[in-house]
Amino acid sequence: MKHMLFGVVVLVCGAVWLTGLSNAEQEKPFAPNVDVATGALRVPNNYTEWPTLGTWAHANTDEKLEKNGPGLHEYHTVYTQPSTIAHYKKTGQFPDGAVLVKELLNAETMAMSTGPAVGHATTLKGWFVLVRDTKGRYKDSKVWGDGWAWGLFNKEDMTHSVTKNYKVECIPCHIPAKGLAPAHAAEADKWIYTLGYPILQKQ
Ligand code: HEC
Repeated sequence: MKHMLFGVVVLVCGAVWLTGLSNAEQEKPFAPNVDVATGALRVPNNYTEWPTLGTWAHANTDEKLEKNGPGLHEYHTVYTQPSTIAHYKKTGQFPDGAVLVKELLNAETMAMSTGPAVGHATTLKGWFVLVRDTKGRYKDSKVWGDGWAWGLFNKEDMTHSVTKNYKVECIPCHIPAKGLAPAHAAEADKWIYTLGYPILQKQ
């Protein structure tokens, strides 16, 4: 009797463990910063622990140049998951769930012992976020489409995107990327300005 009872307990525990496992698998989001139920995006909490793909430096022009002289006034640093870099290097494509976080930073320029006009980042301005979607999810959403989810976040709120319609707010500015993309790139990947990310280029 004791043995039977033990067997039943083991069976029940095993079943509970297996159910837990399959639930966990089902709930596992395809990207770390997407609410799977609604398709809402956020800036991933830990993105600064990810590798950077590259940095865009914005030089002073026009009034800024007249006022502040030569130098930089803004940096855009782009981060992605380590697994995205590994996958891109292997296949030449961004994987489903790839997250690209473009962090906007104000910058100042000053004379330093390394040179007369050296720029450094100062304060955070906000983020642009993209999530690769190879499956065409959330068809009714105006922030999902053309192979990606698109979101702009002000620095006060990492959890709510201010983007309402990516076709109006994002696409027009990303059309030039198509002409700059490598010929081998997948159609959806041509929206990305990969020319600025040496780590993704074939060595
Ligand atoms: C004013 C034009 C403009 C608008 C509007 C714009 N982008 Fe971009 N985006 C660019 C350019 C140019 C780059 C690369 C150079 C830079 O950042 O200065 C870029 C880069 C990015 C990157 C880094 C990956 C890449 O493509 O190289 C992300 C992420 C991004 N944009 C997301 C968005 C999202 C999401 C929207 C809409 C909410 C958006 N962008 C709207 C012009 C724009």
